[in-house]
Amino acid sequence: MTQAALLDRARIIPVPPLSTVPELTVVVPTYDERANIRPLVQRLAEALHGVAWEVIFVDDDSPDGTAAEVRAVARDTPQVRLHHRIGRRGLSGACIEGVLSSVAPLVAVMDADLQHDETLLPRMVQAMADDVGLDLVIGSRHLDGGTVGEGLHGLRRWGSDRAGGLARRVLHIDATDPMSGFFMVRRAAFNGVVLDLQRQGFKILADMLSASGGRWRVRELPYTFRPRVAGQSKLDSAVTLEFLGLLVARLTGGLLPIRFILFLMVGLTGVVVQLGAVRAALALGAGFGVAQAAGVGVAMTTNFLLNNSLTWRDRRLTGRALLRGLVSFYAVCGLGAVANIGVADRVFALVPNWALASLAGAGIGALWNFWASLMVTWRAK
Ligand code: GDD
Ligand code: MN
Repeated sequence: MTQAALLDRARIIPVPPLSTVPELTVVVPTYDERANIRPLVQRLAEALHGVAWEVIFVDDDSPDGTAAEVRAVARDTPQVRLHHRIGRRGLSGACIEGVLSSVAPLVAVMDADLQHDETLLPRMVQAMADDVGLDLVIGSRHLDGGTVGEGLHGLRRWGSDRAGGLARRVLHIDATDPMSGFFMVRRAAFNGVVLDLQRQGFKILADMLSASGGRWRVRELPYTFRPRVAGQSKLDSAVTLEFLGLLVARLTGGLLPIRFILFLMVGLTGVVVQLGAVRAALALGAGFGVAQAAGVGVAMTTNFLLNNSLTWRDRRLTGRALLRGLVSFYAVCGLGAVANIGVADRVFALVPNWALASLAGAGIGALWNFWASLMVTWRAK
């Protein structure tokens, strides 16, 4: 039977095969970037003429319909692929999944908003081809010849510089721009560190550099960071705290994940809130017992709200789920307090040192509260 007859039988529409297996995958994380998809694909096609490339958009089910737009563009551009995630949020996690879903030996990561200069990509490929020992090429805004241009203003620019300096010192990174969201990595190198990477947060490059323990050969190429074309930046104040969490996570060798560090930070604010609320209640004439109870209630509530918008912002509860979550959080913290007191009691019976006993109780209470919140209040869908 001829091929045509076979196809006819199977009712398959013949499609010309992709001419080549991709040499380069460009991973583009997206959240509400609908208007940027088509222009970006067009620019990639122009810049990567002569390279066997593909682009994988990793979309977290954006409300603006970015995924549908990617599907539409893919109908006439076979290099376009979509990795559509539901029930998940987060830039670093999206990048990691995008890289893992490609089979190409070279993988680049860039923003969807046209801030990163796509004409750097062929030069990154060339750098990798010229030096087979090279593991990573970074698009740098801080190298001679590169600038932040009009891409960042005022406070953002100042914060980005401080964070870069901190990452370099604390994580012992040499690169001039460890905060860059624009880089190309060799598959083998990436696979060597992937188990070590934090999925929460924005700063996957700094995390990778730190995880590589200085063993990677790295090159930087300068470029000018352009202003965002359409849509808004998703970088907010929570990103800064996540970054501090990343530093601590790295310093503890990954023992404490970012989420737990954020949970502890929120817990510390709870102590301050509680003291303030008790003082206010006393000033209003309440007796100590009532004031203390009110303080605990207020602190639990602010802790819940802060954890909801920071620690578990990728699973943020809203509407009715927010109320249900609050009630379950009160229950979790109530049991945590029982555990706290019980453990402190036992320890005090063994070693009569009140500070040690009290700290032991607080430690167990915090671990319980974290674990139970994770499993109950903000459990993954
Ligand atoms: N899938 C997914 N999920 N994508 C996300 C998420 C998310 O939760 N949050 C942001 N993105 C996507 C955006 O749609 C965009 O394509 C890219 O990640 C970067 O987000 P922006 O909102 O554009 O961040 P920025 O421009 O302020 O900062 C970027 O550039 C800096 C300089 O290179 C980031 O890449 C920073 O990490 C980087 O320092
Ligand atoms: Mn951007």
